[in-house]
Amino acid sequence: MSKTYVVALDQGTTSSRAMLIDREGRVADVVQNPFPQIFPKPGWVEHDPRDILSSQLGALTELLVSNDLGPRDIDSIGITNQRETTVVWNRETGQPVANAIVWQCRRTAPLVEELCGVPEIAAEVTRRTGLVPDAYFSASKIRWILDNVPGAREDALQGKLAFGTVDSWLLWALTQGEVHATDVTNASRTMLFNIHDMKWDPWLLDLFDIPASMLPEVRPSSGDFGVTRNPAVFPGVPIRGIAGDQQAALFGQCCFSPGQAKNTYGTGCFLLMNTGHEACESKNGLVTTVAASAPDAKGPEYALEGSVFMAGALLQWLRDEMGLIDDVADTCEIARSVDSTEGVYIVPAFTGLGAPYWDAEARGTVVGLTRGSTRAHFVRAALESLAYQVHDLVVAMEADSGVKLSELNVDGGASKNDFLMQFQCDMLRTSLHRPQNAETTAAGAAYLAGLSTGFWESTDQLRGLRATDDIYEPQMDHTRHAELLEGWRRAVGHTKTKQD
Ligand code: G3P
Repeated sequence: MSKTYVVALDQGTTSSRAMLIDREGRVADVVQNPFPQIFPKPGWVEHDPRDILSSQLGALTELLVSNDLGPRDIDSIGITNQRETTVVWNRETGQPVANAIVWQCRRTAPLVEELCGVPEIAAEVTRRTGLVPDAYFSASKIRWILDNVPGAREDALQGKLAFGTVDSWLLWALTQGEVHATDVTNASRTMLFNIHDMKWDPWLLDLFDIPASMLPEVRPSSGDFGVTRNPAVFPGVPIRGIAGDQQAALFGQCCFSPGQAKNTYGTGCFLLMNTGHEACESKNGLVTTVAASAPDAKGPEYALEGSVFMAGALLQWLRDEMGLIDDVADTCEIARSVDSTEGVYIVPAFTGLGAPYWDAEARGTVVGLTRGSTRAHFVRAALESLAYQVHDLVVAMEADSGVKLSELNVDGGASKNDFLMQFQCDMLRTSLHRPQNAETTAAGAAYLAGLSTGFWESTDQLRGLRATDDIYEPQMDHTRHAELLEGWRRAVGHTKTKQD
């Protein structure tokens, strides 16, 4: 009998999830385990790689046991993960040499400035990697570990240490050290990978002083990554798909063709547009990244990416730090209880302004407060700020790609907020499509694995699985649209520390 499920492992920034995806692309079951966040100093963020592993493998075991599944039920495993987060471990002992440095961690900002501060060097890094030099990406995080963990550089030079993004760390554990590999999407976020010749780049390794022996082998996102050997799962299950979570979501949204885009409303927002075989260079502060491809792709495929740092995190801040709301889910109703913010704008530049402004020194601002401003105005302004930031990214993306978005696919927690989705749609003046299966990241990982084994035949078949979407159409009149955006631009102007 043919197998029933593909298992998707979704290792995110705050939790690890294991999911059963059936042949219709539906989530049949999910087990989710949160794990500790470690903040050793202001601006530093770490994870214990052993917590990542135990939460992820624990979720996998529980999923299989609670559904009473055996080897005959599982076709394959697909892995998707928080990107850039850096793990370095000892190949002999399998033990990490330090905590993982998380993508959000800013400790290496001075190092990046020191190594890439010269404009010609920064431009060369961007030309090779598609990325804007920043502490966000893995390269400076690896270098930090080599410079600061006693004995690490010596061990690395002797070939004893392995580096991996979280996918590689999980793969190493699942295969009991048999496979040290990553996929092209995760490699493209390290700032060590040349996205044009699709290889680790010796010039970049030299710049960051990282031994090539530490690096994983880079493989296509849909293909052979070995088989399971870890007792958390029965032996011999093929691992056939890996992609960084944002590229997995692009794939899970079936954005297989150039010009198709998705936005994920998570802790931050990640907007990605498929640009096909062209590595489209950004002139508007976006990054170029490698997209996940189906096994029959003819050469590498790329995406333009822009991110908003504070999205769901802003709503959590309203709840946890400001005490303005009890539950993030209430924000939709609260925002709708007023007709507008009456001129209140929040620019949530808590950790600086990202694309397309790139102003690391900027900090959050609230403008337009009056004696009549209420909690509802404030909450509404917070939701609207998400939509304005995504609007700015879309404008930058359209300018870079020369493509006018005809629709935007949305997913992630805050995409369930109907007020936000309608306001987003009104700001973009583009229809918004929200798939009923909101688990697009896990679906993407499962699709990559299942296409490789033949569980699914083709991307056309996957398109056909997409359940009916909720569709939003623009409703706002032109004058109001223009007035609101003008107010937002003024608010961003008050926030920036450097003028254009
Ligand atoms: O680039 C970071 C991103 O991959 C993290 O995603 O969903 O774990 O917050 P998430």
